Amino acid sequence: MTVPKTVLCAIGTRPEAIKMAPVILALRADPAFRCRVLATAQHRQMLDQVLSVFGIVPDVDLDIMQPDQSLCDLTGRLLLRLGTVMAEEAPDIVLAQGDTTTVLTTAIAAFYARIPFGHVEAGLRTGDPCNPFPEEMNRVLTARLASWHFAPTPQAAHHLRVENTPDHAIHVTGNTVIDALHQVRDKARRPACLTPGRRLILATLHRRENFGAPLARICAALRAIVEANEDVELLLPVHHNPNVRATVTEAFRGCCRAHLTDPLDYLDFVGAMEHAHMVMSDSGGVQEEAPALGKPVLILRETTERPEAVEAGVAALVGTDAGAIRARAQRLLDDPAAYAAMARGASPFGDGQAARRILGVLRAA
Ligand code: UD1
Ligand code: UDP
Repeated sequence: MTVPKTVLCAIGTRPEAIKMAPVILALRADPAFRCRVLATAQHRQMLDQVLSVFGIVPDVDLDIMQPDQSLCDLTGRLLLRLGTVMAEEAPDIVLAQGDTTTVLTTAIAAFYARIPFGHVEAGLRTGDPCNPFPEEMNRVLTARLASWHFAPTPQAAHHLRVENTPDHAIHVTGNTVIDALHQVRDKARRPACLTPGRRLILATLHRRENFGAPLARICAALRAIVEANEDVELLLPVHHNPNVRATVTEAFRGCCRAHLTDPLDYLDFVGAMEHAHMVMSDSGGVQEEAPALGKPVLILRETTERPEAVEAGVAALVGTDAGAIRARAQRLLDDPAAYAAMARGASPFGDGQAARRILGVLRAA
């Protein structure tokens, strides 16, 4: 009988937990692997919300989050703790997903421990080292440390080849976010603020490069859209980052038909996307999910590392200028043909089989 390979899956923030959940559940069901889950808990409440939806209990929990943590402080504290985890767990393989501080430090710690590292959602690039910040640089650095690159799309694989990543190490798998979406879709819940005869705009905001003036401009645009359209309700689950909370809370003070809530549980958020007329967001994951649910998504950022949905015509990169955001949203509200063109639905990021393909590669490794 062959000895199962021990795979340590590191997760730190909400999107990492959502996107690693299908991989963790598949590893746990496969006798070829022994799966260990390491929660750095770079996020606390937002991570726990996802873990409970998928019934995942971490084997190791570093509980690292501190209020308003700085990048240097978080990075330093994570590296120290991860060195110990690698020594104690001594896995055969380490996996992490995406471009957060958890991912970069996990890749470094695995490299120092000489344990091969697999990068889930590899090869996303905007080409601008500061946009998104610090994620673009995190991805570039993580790629240099990885033994397996699980690229969601052919375009992501192309970016890796251009950077001289060996061909044999690149595997186009699709994005595990679509696996997760398929797994929860029939359990998704209808949003409480849905009013008959009104159209729901769902928005999320959290990017560091938007903090300050860009975030204030985006909020002003969202408020103006709500106030100009009496049949529109805005649902805005507010990220726990205090830099987001302060600006957003202030910007919507006294604005009726704008529903500011705590971050939604994943089942509620998927339900909100399904019932939304359109989605406006600076999130990475939401850019992937909304098109798969047939919802137009306006991307509130200057760049995107997920051009596939824009190229398919189901997402639009609108930037952070208030006038441009208002104009694009108004067109979608007023022009049924423009709306229908973007609400066709497309799933350029995956087919729900990404975790299966990742396990196939690891089994053969
Ligand atoms: C992080 C990631 C970002 C990812 C995002 C997903 C980095 C540098 N940033 O950004 O790439 O897109 O997560 O949401 O890795 N907080 C809480 N409770 C929580 C979560 C956050 O209170 O459950 C607050 C804390 O004050 C914390 C702050 O938010 O210090 C910032 O958290 P952090 O993970 O450093 O950055 P995010 O902006 O959440
Ligand atoms: N999400 C959620 N609740 C919310 C907002 C978002 O569960 O209130 C989910 C969403 O479905 C997506 C993920 O969180 O899968 C995106 O996370 P986030 O925007 O925080 O990070 P990013 O994807 O930009 O790294």
